[in-house]
Amino acid sequence: MIGKLNHVAIAVNDLDAAAALYRDTLGATVSGAVPQPDHGVTTVFVELANTKIELLAPLGDGSPLAAFLDKNKSGGIHHICYEVKDIYAARDKLVKQGLRILGSGDPVPGAHGNLILFLHPKDFCGTLIELEQQP
Ligand code: CO
Repeated sequence: MIGKLNHVAIAVNDLDAAAALYRDTLGATVSGAVPQPDHGVTTVFVELANTKIELLAPLGDGSPLAAFLDKNKSGGIHHICYEVKDIYAARDKLVKQGLRILGSGDPVPGAHGNLILFLHPKDFCGTLIELEQQP
């Protein structure tokens, strides 16, 4: 069901500092910062040859990242994203197997406009999993 690793997301306190670290210290290609108000985060994408790193900082009050950064003061790996061809078929199959989808349970547009959903970390070895449908 899952395809390629689309990205690994890292929660950070200082997005500019994190972007500079990847750009200037590691020599990576780094996107500009894009506010994602629907998700309560601002994102920067680091482009690698085989995948991406998504740097995430909290945006606005009640950001879903606030509690994570409270527990992980220096930031840390927040989620990993796998590609799927048909996110509704994937969702239905997972739900049928008793796994939990976060939020309403329906896919929503993610950082690239592709449909995404998140799976409960307690069902996946303590790791928050994002599924992203590829066009
Ligand atoms: Co993501």
